[in-house]
Order: sequence, then C-alpha cells, then structure tokens
Amino acid sequence: MNLPNMLEAKKRENIDVKNVDYNDVKLDTTLIGKKFFVRTYGCQMNEHDGERIKGILSNQGMVETDVLEDASLVILNTCAIRENAHDKVFGFMGILKKLKEDKKDLLIGICGCMAQEESVIEEIMSKYKYVDFVFGTFNLDNMISVINDRIRTGKQNIDVLSSSGNICEGVPEVRDSKYTAWVDIILGCDKFCTYCIVPYTRGKQRSRKKEDIIKEVEELVSKGYKEVTLLGQNVNAYGKDLYSSYTLADLLRDVSKTGIPRIRFVTSHPWDFTDQMIDAISELDNVMPYVHLPIQSGSNRILKMMGRRYTREEYLTLYNKIRERVKGVSITTDIIVGFPGESREDFLETLDIVNTCKFDGAYTFIFSPREGTPASLFLDDVSMEEKNERLQELNNLVNKYSNLSNQREVKKIVKCLVLGKSEKDESKYMGYTENNKLVNIESDEDIIGKIVDVRIVEAKSFSLNGVYMK
Ligand code: 5AD
Ligand code: SF4
Repeated sequence: MNLPNMLEAKKRENIDVKNVDYNDVKLDTTLIGKKFFVRTYGCQMNEHDGERIKGILSNQGMVETDVLEDASLVILNTCAIRENAHDKVFGFMGILKKLKEDKKDLLIGICGCMAQEESVIEEIMSKYKYVDFVFGTFNLDNMISVINDRIRTGKQNIDVLSSSGNICEGVPEVRDSKYTAWVDIILGCDKFCTYCIVPYTRGKQRSRKKEDIIKEVEELVSKGYKEVTLLGQNVNAYGKDLYSSYTLADLLRDVSKTGIPRIRFVTSHPWDFTDQMIDAISELDNVMPYVHLPIQSGSNRILKMMGRRYTREEYLTLYNKIRERVKGVSITTDIIVGFPGESREDFLETLDIVNTCKFDGAYTFIFSPREGTPASLFLDDVSMEEKNERLQELNNLVNKYSNLSNQREVKKIVKCLVLGKSEKDESKYMGYTENNKLVNIESDEDIIGKIVDVRIVEAKSFSLNGVYMK
C-alpha cells in the first residue's frame, strides 16, 4: 500500500527524470475475456490517459463495453480541478455501490487526479470500502500489477505515489478517434498558480524527448491520422527541463516536417509564450491558427494573488501580437470569477478585458478551493450568490463575443476536418475548421476523415452550419 502525500507532491528538488519502457505484466487469468468499462472526467490529458487504460486492458485480453451492467471491471479516471468534478465521481460511486451489491465479484478501481488527494483516499478507505483498487497519475503504467495484487490478496489495494520523475514510453493505447490524436509532450507543471491542484496531482514538469514525440507523430501519419494535438498543462514550457535551447517553437517545426496535415497544441501559459512561437504558428501551414491562452482575471491585484506572473497589460501586448501576426487566428481563454477577495472593481476589470480582447470563446469558472493549495487558505468574503451573479454576467458577455466571432465566419469557404456524423442530426456531418470551430455540415456523400471545403451558411451560439463544396 502506498498513500498520497501533498507535502511530498509539492517538492521539486532531487527528482530524477527517468525514461522507462512499458513493462507488459500479464493480467490475472480470471479477468481475461471479461468486459471492462472506463469513465474519464476532466482535461484532454486525462482523456489521453483514458485511452491508455483502455489500451493496457485490451492488450491483456479484456474487452471494452459501454454498458456498465455488463462489466466485470469498472475504472473511474477522475479529475480534481474543481469541487463539481469530485461531486460527479462520488455521485457515480453511489451507482457502482448498488451494482456491486448484485454482482459481488465486480472490481471497481479509481485513478486519475482525485486519487492523488490525501482527503479522497482517506474517504475511500473509510467510507468506500467496496472500491477494490486505486492507482495514481504516476503509476498508470503499473495498473495491471495493482489489479493483480487486489485479486491475489482479496483486500482493497491503494497504490498511489506522491511524485515521480518517470516518463513511460510505449504504453499501449486505444485511441478514441481514427483521425485526430492526442500526443503528450510535457507532463506535470511547475507554475504553482495559487488556486491550482495540478502541480500536486501531476507532479514536476518533465518533457518527453523530441525523438519520441516525432516518432509517435510519424507513426500516426502512417496510420492515416490527419491531426495531432500536442498536450501539456503548459506546452510553452516544453524543453526547458531537458534541453539548453530546444523549445516548443523548434518542436513545432520538427513535427510540421512529419507531414501531418494539422497540428494543434494546448494549453499555453502567457508567461512562456515567445516571439519564436508566434513565428512558428504563423509560418507553418500545418500548425493551426488557434491559441488557447488562459487569462484567469483582468485585475492585476487578483492576477498577483493567483501567482500568474503577468499583468493585464503584458497579457494584452501578447494577445495583440498573436492577433496581428497569425492570420485568421482564433483565441480562447479561461476565466475564474469569485477568487478570494475579488471585489466588484476587480470583476469589472475582468469584464473590461473581455470587452477589449473580444475572445472567440471562453471557459468560465467559479473559484473552487482545493485542499492543500495556498488559495484555499485565503480569506474569501464574496458570497456564493454574488459569485453566481458574476459568472452569469461574465457568461453573457463572453457569449456575445463568441457569437460575433461565429458570425464573422458566415459566407466564408473554410477547410474542415470531418470527424463523424453530427451528434444532433444524423443526416449531417461534423468537423472542425482550422481555427477550431465546430461545424455541422450538409453533404450527400461520405466525407468522414477528410479535410474538405465547406461554405458556412449560418452561425449558432456554439457552432456553425455549413455545406460541403465538392
Ligand atoms: N477553481 C476554479 N477554476 C479553476 N481552474 C483551475 N483551478 C481552479 C480552481 N481551483 C480553471 C482555470 C484553468 C482551467 C483548466 O480550470 O481557469 O485554466
Ligand atoms: Fe483535472 Fe487538472 Fe487532473 Fe486534468 S490535470 S484531470 S484538469 S485536475
């Protein structure tokens, strides 16, 4: 048994970054041929971890199911970013408890970011005894041994490391899409924004070797993939821990040479965004004109308390530079309202910067105190009612600008990568423009998996309608 420790997770010294190869341990034979169900919450990195969990289990002879009742093994791949992510997981656990009452040999596992939290593990050990095993974000590649140990001992097995410098290459994956693929380039985060739990749950910032990344993209190209999204909590820090001068701008140039038709990258911290990066995005045809650039607040006072290391003026300078130099770029952001001590004036500064930037889209959140982070101890004198009102006010403004941004696409002919049938209307297709807008496309021929010209005919609040141009 290994239990998480937030104090250990905070340490950054003396962590040796080791590259290890995946060790293909054999799964207990009682599970072979049986079905598994995986549910993933949270960000794209976690989605990608979900693909690995599926890959590891499928490789060992288990079969994926999306019917919960059919599964012999259920894994919840959790997120810890805000309290509501927690609530969703604990809500689902109630369903699993009932299921297990009828199906005694059902195995239930928890992994992901919540597994890294001390308080969650304490709760699982005391209140959720029917959870069979837990592993964390640092030992996903050791999942089979964790499951085997649970089966062998018959006891709840909790195996969570608090920090690790390991980068495991060659983990099997079952990718959710045949056309777009996530590619991790940097794991962990060393920024320690005062509200954020990620530096504790995902550990030290550590870059994958450029050769490993390029090899992975080359393999994806040979399998017919059309798009890769380079992933990291802060991709702009790529290489800093590994090379003296090789950066994300260099990596983009090298990945571009693989010939993959589309390259995206998320998420960018404004602090590390260099001119070379902007050059690379604007010069390379297959790097898509889309930047997700979280601002978090428009108030310098709050930005300082958040530990963001830039001012609103610096953000604006960078923002304008990207807008000017990258043709047709769309820029989205993240904003938190109701940070401890946020006054009405601070909030008005956030509205003001939204009015200035006119973001193409924004993800907005109410501050959620995360145990163990500095901001969870800050005096918070803003009522929940006030926070909800601010969120509403902000959303109205953000929606106005995303609507305007969508309106500007109408009548244009744009390139879309078509990913499948439209979710809302089976007779249509869905795809994404180069600047990452969702389009529902009318077409009388199958265009899935292709990059096609689409004439935009209508703008909706969160999507566009278009017609395939033969
Ligand atoms: N409370 C609210 N929002 C948060 N985010 C991160 N931590 C918190 C928190 N404690 C938001 C930030 C980040 C996005 C992924 O989630 O805006 O950019
Ligand atoms: Fe959630 Fe952050 Fe973990 Fe992603 S890294 S799953 S957003 S807590």
